[in-house]
Amino acid sequence: ADFLATVAEKSDGAALRGDYTHADDQYVVQQEWSAYTEAEHALWRKLYQRQAALLPGRACDEFIEALQQMQAADGIPELERTSEELFKATGWHIVAVPGLIPELAFFNHLANRRFPVTVWLRTPEEFDYIVEPDIFHDFFGHVPLLFNPVFADYMQRYGQGGLKAMSLGGLDQLARLYWYTVEFGLINTPQGLRIYGAGILSSGGEVEYCLKQGTGSRHIHLNIERCLRTLYKIDSYQETYFAIDSYQELFDGTAADFTPLYEKLKHLDTLPANTLLAGEVELLG
Ligand code: PHE
Ligand code: FE
Repeated sequence: ADFLATVAEKSDGAALRGDYTHADDQYVVQQEWSAYTEAEHALWRKLYQRQAALLPGRACDEFIEALQQMQAADGIPELERTSEELFKATGWHIVAVPGLIPELAFFNHLANRRFPVTVWLRTPEEFDYIVEPDIFHDFFGHVPLLFNPVFADYMQRYGQGGLKAMSLGGLDQLARLYWYTVEFGLINTPQGLRIYGAGILSSGGEVEYCLKQGTGSRHIHLNIERCLRTLYKIDSYQETYFAIDSYQELFDGTAADFTPLYEKLKHLDTLPANTLLAGEVELLG
């Protein structure tokens, strides 16, 4: 599950996809794994295989290793099983949710080291592109990095920061950081630029696109204040990718109290998604 699409797209009041009738007050449901059809398991395998084949040399090692360890290639996974493995690794749980959930519930889950995963799978017509996050995006894209202790701590801290941003009027700003790190983040490694963002790693086309030179999209080092000002595209490949050197950089960079930052940002303009500021270095030229 994500909260960003709730903010960005559902402001029109359109109905959410998914069955919310059995959800508890934290929007948690049973996965009902036995109800998935054989056709859905087959679609999962196709999605998985296409995506896994794109990862070598593009996804970061942490992602590839954890994904293999998760053994989820053969069909839609039972969330409970991976949740137990994840808990042993980093103290996180996976909880099943009907789909997009409100910010408050989403941040509450993260702040308590629970990652909400949508239970439904996209249709075959949505093989290449889907608007709302499904179980493939949530599980394949997000869960592997939660096996990394530092990234897992960053996600919890993000949840705490989200709750705080809600009361400070900083949610639009903080959401941009989630977008450009958790969803579309790149990381510098000795082997070159690699992907850790779930929105890229679960996308058929963007895995290749985001690392290409000469596409017109920017690749710049993450600067948190700059990132919080930067608008993003929800219906096309990103026009800017922010790269970090380590997950520790994310964790350390978000340790400070953001209250004065939100205040400062109220007096600064937002930046279009394709901005390059004076002095910024493009990493892919
Ligand atoms: N530390 C930030 C604050 O005090 C919150 C935050 C955490 C922001 C994690 C981003 C990521 O508001
Ligand atoms: Fe997501």
